[in-house]
Amino acid sequence: MSTPVVRFLTGITTTGTPHLGNYVGAIRPAVRASRRPGTENFYFLADYHALIKCDEPARIQRSTLEIAACWLAAGLDPEQVFFYRQSDIPEIPELTWLLTCVTGKGLLNRAHAYKASTDKNLAAGRDPDADVTAGLFMYPVLMAADIVLFNAHRIPVGRDQIQHIEMARDMAASFNHLYGERFVLPEAAVDESVATLPGLDGRKMSKSYDNTIALFAPREQVRKQIFSIVTDSRAPGEPKEVEGSALFQIYEAFADQAETQALRQAYADGIAWADAKQLLFERVDREIAPMRERYDALVADPAQLERILQAGAAKARNRATPFLATLRHAVGLRNLAPTGTTHDATGNLVGGGASMKGSASAKAKVALPAFKQYRESDGRHYFKFVDASGGLLLQSAGFDSPQDAGKAVARLKQQGWQDGDTAATPAAGVTGETVRAALALLAAS
Ligand code: TRP
Repeated sequence: MSTPVVRFLTGITTTGTPHLGNYVGAIRPAVRASRRPGTENFYFLADYHALIKCDEPARIQRSTLEIAACWLAAGLDPEQVFFYRQSDIPEIPELTWLLTCVTGKGLLNRAHAYKASTDKNLAAGRDPDADVTAGLFMYPVLMAADIVLFNAHRIPVGRDQIQHIEMARDMAASFNHLYGERFVLPEAAVDESVATLPGLDGRKMSKSYDNTIALFAPREQVRKQIFSIVTDSRAPGEPKEVEGSALFQIYEAFADQAETQALRQAYADGIAWADAKQLLFERVDREIAPMRERYDALVADPAQLERILQAGAAKARNRATPFLATLRHAVGLRNLAPTGTTHDATGNLVGGGASMKGSASAKAKVALPAFKQYRESDGRHYFKFVDASGGLLLQSAGFDSPQDAGKAVARLKQQGWQDGDTAATPAAGVTGETVRAALALLAAS
């Protein structure tokens, strides 16, 4: 019996270039978390979300490249996780529409990001919706689609995103209420133990304060930035305070306990600021330098990155495509000739698709999972259940006769697959939910 898997999912909006604050606050903890046993982890480049904030195509593209390279350089293993680009998953905008139709407009009116814009307009005596795009208004629905498409349980985000997760829950619950239990209700996971890094001026490190230290800039540039961290005017030899020292806090985010304790002592002993900065630079560089090499290599080879993202999209769509098919069916977007085969206008047999002909019907047929029965050299009878692209979902045990194997197949088709079913077990890396979604897709076709 398999223990239930917990799915974590988070999106990274593809604007800007990652800085040390992003690394300490998001990337490093996520890469560590991605290795937890018993979890599935989804990380994606939210480039549709980026379009809401940015209308410069070259910046969107560049930022997608840099952020993808950054996560991989920091150790994310695309084989172990689901790592993909949002705009490679057409099921996301499709689900966005299904959710849009169960979402109250009033709910979206209350979203913080949208309200901040309208409040600002009102305060300035303008029309509340002046310069507000429908994209900004719809932002929470797109985000909900990102999350519920993969039935993610836990969403690691910053505090500013909690409301969006609550809205996603609301949308999922409305959909479940109207169309039957389809979605897991997601929860925000805010990690209080993760440090928010101060920036050069001591305020939170953030692009909007222009106080960041670049993550993968050339070494010399990082050194310069670290040397520009604001300190007080205490001279060498004068004891220094660790409280409120941005330099100390950044050091702490990279150092182990003994190293941190040593710097604390050095502060008390009156270390010169220049020496403290040199220590910080060396400590940060020790962690970042090997990643910078990988980062530079990835950015220099965009074709390889593109291949990684395409493979990630295929893996994600293995889940998304059959699941969305069940959702389409649930809301009534259905094949009009649901049972058996029929004839198209030219008299050819087509799979259940009214009078579709040509490539569309051929595609519809190809896109189905299937059962395959066969006999092994041990003389016993088996079946497999494979997805649309032939990937193994279920492997059966051996049966004495083809009839016994056939009966088990019929039962699975009618009743679905439950955890612990001994007639067939999911392939490595395949969850019960995927199997059930694929069976539902087959049943719905
Ligand atoms: N809106 C998130 C942010 O700006 C990014 C994001 C998009 C996201 N889709 C998501 C985060 C889904 C978590 C889950 O930080």
